[in-house]
Amino acid sequence: MPTTSPISRTQMTHDHRILNFSAGPAILPEPVLKQLQEDIWNLNGSGVGVLEHSHRGKEIDAVFEETTEACRTLAGITDSHEVMFLQNGASGQFAMIPMNFLPPARTADYVITGTWAKKAFEEGGRLGQVHCAFDGSETLFNRVPGDDEISLSSDPAYMHYCSNNTIYGTRFETMPKVDCPSVVDMSSEMFSRPWDYTGHDLVYAGAQKNLAPAGVVLVLASKALLDTARKDVPNILSYPIHAKNDSRYHTPPVFPIHTMGLVFKWILAEGGLEEMARRNEAKASLIYDAIDNSGGFYIPHSDKNCRSVMNLSFKTNSPDLDKKFLEEATANEMSGLKGHRSIGGMRASIYNAFPEEGCRRLVEFMNEFARTNG
Ligand SMILES: Cc1ncc(COP(=O)(O)O)c(C=O)c1O
Repeated sequence: MPTTSPISRTQMTHDHRILNFSAGPAILPEPVLKQLQEDIWNLNGSGVGVLEHSHRGKEIDAVFEETTEACRTLAGITDSHEVMFLQNGASGQFAMIPMNFLPPARTADYVITGTWAKKAFEEGGRLGQVHCAFDGSETLFNRVPGDDEISLSSDPAYMHYCSNNTIYGTRFETMPKVDCPSVVDMSSEMFSRPWDYTGHDLVYAGAQKNLAPAGVVLVLASKALLDTARKDVPNILSYPIHAKNDSRYHTPPVFPIHTMGLVFKWILAEGGLEEMARRNEAKASLIYDAIDNSGGFYIPHSDKNCRSVMNLSFKTNSPDLDKKFLEEATANEMSGLKGHRSIGGMRASIYNAFPEEGCRRLVEFMNEFARTNG
């Protein structure tokens, strides 16, 4: 294993790519990137590129229809839910959800399993009455709660949770069973595994991790929940307005939506969510095995029973060694491995598009690094 890069930046050819472990914006499937190159030039033989089309023309109608259809197929949802493509990132949802679904006399419950879930809770608190149904901060968010640890208020308007915690590398194995509308942030794992999409009243995901470039948020919302939305919300932040206008109440970000459609078709062509889950489990196992078999050299952040297969956070017993690890990984053409500043260490984000071969290379590097520095 070389300790310095065989290819310096100046020697790199334009088509040479390195392993991208970034948590987001993140890796996209290569066939999708290749297709986008054509579509930027000329979308479906229309003579106009996807970046240049009117969002109301028939080519973009087709983009919306096909993306929505593929999304419905993947999520297994029919008429019960609306599919929307919105803006303002997942953080925008932190505000839109209480604005639409938290009436003044009610309380909304939040399960706090990490930084993003906490931000959602805090934003909810700026807009209405919120209740913390679980707080994992005492153990630095190294696990998620079981159903019996979630303590709901009486009759909450909804319960919000985050299924995969991007920073801490934890996830819910299954959706928490609660007796109120369920709202889930799936930003860092959307369509990485089969999931009970129809069992939720609202599912959302910022696209820039597993679905598309930044600029769009995918939202699946039950019609039952939409019927309860408050009317005193500005149009631009109202779910029913976006649903009624097929996500074209205003000029939508067509490029990330088109990319998302190509990603959905790629997932379907590769075998769907079961196959994504099989691959993701296999990839993550390689890295977790390297951590578990390192004799304590690598320390995982997450409890074993709730390990994320998308974001794998770990460290050594010394920040200096972590720094050295990251420097040498960079020299070995592995980028984006630096852990989030709140917990330090390393984080390997291995979304759907990340190849198993890349995980094998990381494992080889980890083993060699532990051997020479242990
Ligand atoms: C789980 C989760 N939710 C929300 C966000 C915030 O996303 P955005 O930057 O699109 O607002 C992130 C960003 O990393 C995330 O990982």
